[in-house]
Amino acid sequence: MSLYAHVTGWGIAVPDEILTNEKLAQIVETSDEWIVSRTGIRERRIARKDQSTATLAADAARKALERTEIDARDLDLIILATSSPEHIFPATACLVQDSIGAIKAGAFDLSAACTGFIFALNMAAQAIRSGSIENALVIGSETLSRLVNWDDRSTCILFGDGAGAFVLQASDEPGGILSAVMRSDGSGGNLLSVPAGGSKIPTSHEAIDKNQHLIQMNGREVFRFATRVMASATRDTAAHAGWDVEEIDYVIPHQANQRIIEAAARGLRLPIDRFIVNLEKYGNTSTASIPLAMVEALDNGQIKDGSNLVLVGFGAGLTWGALSMRWIEPKVKVTRLERRRRSLLTWLARMRSFLRRVQRRIEGLIWGTSSKGQE
Ligand code: ACO
Repeated sequence: MSLYAHVTGWGIAVPDEILTNEKLAQIVETSDEWIVSRTGIRERRIARKDQSTATLAADAARKALERTEIDARDLDLIILATSSPEHIFPATACLVQDSIGAIKAGAFDLSAACTGFIFALNMAAQAIRSGSIENALVIGSETLSRLVNWDDRSTCILFGDGAGAFVLQASDEPGGILSAVMRSDGSGGNLLSVPAGGSKIPTSHEAIDKNQHLIQMNGREVFRFATRVMASATRDTAAHAGWDVEEIDYVIPHQANQRIIEAAARGLRLPIDRFIVNLEKYGNTSTASIPLAMVEALDNGQIKDGSNLVLVGFGAGLTWGALSMRWIEPKVKVTRLERRRRSLLTWLARMRSFLRRVQRRIEGLIWGTSSKGQE
């Protein structure tokens, strides 16, 4: 049985459309100066009409798989962390499973707001380390632009769209995901929420008139909570991994606000250059923010073989958590021929999905059940 769970593939997907602070200032009463000084954010990405949480997730997942020696058919598990799922159900993870052709993977969504990617990584790593599975795909994907109240300047300046995906694989090589802490405090659930659309406040004209289908946030309280928990969660997971805080090479924090990250650095007595930050380009992309930052640092060579990393996040729930990882550079080189084979598999996965839908329609016509269910 393999004892370690390593990240062997990584990929991101972000929409092309950039919404700058200057453009936002034409929508609500704000300014580039206010947004940059209070948050550090300069621009964010906004999904096109034909993009959604599932399409961004599937794009990131394909890129992550391309770096590995496995393909979608080898995946045993898909966990998709999101705060902006495609639907209440089915799970967005199942739509991604179908889209990439992961024919033997169990797939489910994980709802822990911005901490979701850390919780999901930990769950997948535990499943691998228990010996019950070998290959997992963990995704954080968001189209928060669909849940933002574009008349509310205190929230619409913060959020953006994007996705990041990691492939995790079992290995005998020491390293990979070493420890994690997962915490929650539901007494603060009202501080950050999308109140309507669930069982408590079902969708109604009244709920929509009150904007209850959109993000509501008490920014100051969330800020106070975040500055309290970021340093302590980082310290706890480092201790579980057997590290002193100074031994952490890089902290990859949830990209919500530059001032929250600076407070965490002060709390940990670590220099700010040990924190990987790219929120100026993407804003707060909730579950996608940690992989968006980490993938950029991997691709620009900042994170090196043997680096000690801590991923740390907080979010609605309230939830918070941190995870420690020793980065071991995967040795796999994917050939051109292999890439071609994978493109063919992707195409076949789409065909398979299409054919299954056709088969279901034909069976529906035969059995008289074709009017049930919507596309
Ligand atoms: N432009 C100009 N002025 C603004 C804006 C804006 N976009 N937004 C608020 N203001 C005004 C307010 O109206 C207020 O004016 P007043 O003093 O006349 O009432 C003033 O600026 C100060 O408002 P605060 O809310 O105190 O501003 P603060 O410095 O706290 O910054 C912010 C607000 C950026 C939202 C901050 O509180 C924050 O980052 N909180 C954490 C939010 C967060 O991280 N949320 C995501 C959690 S993760 C998840 O689960 C999705």
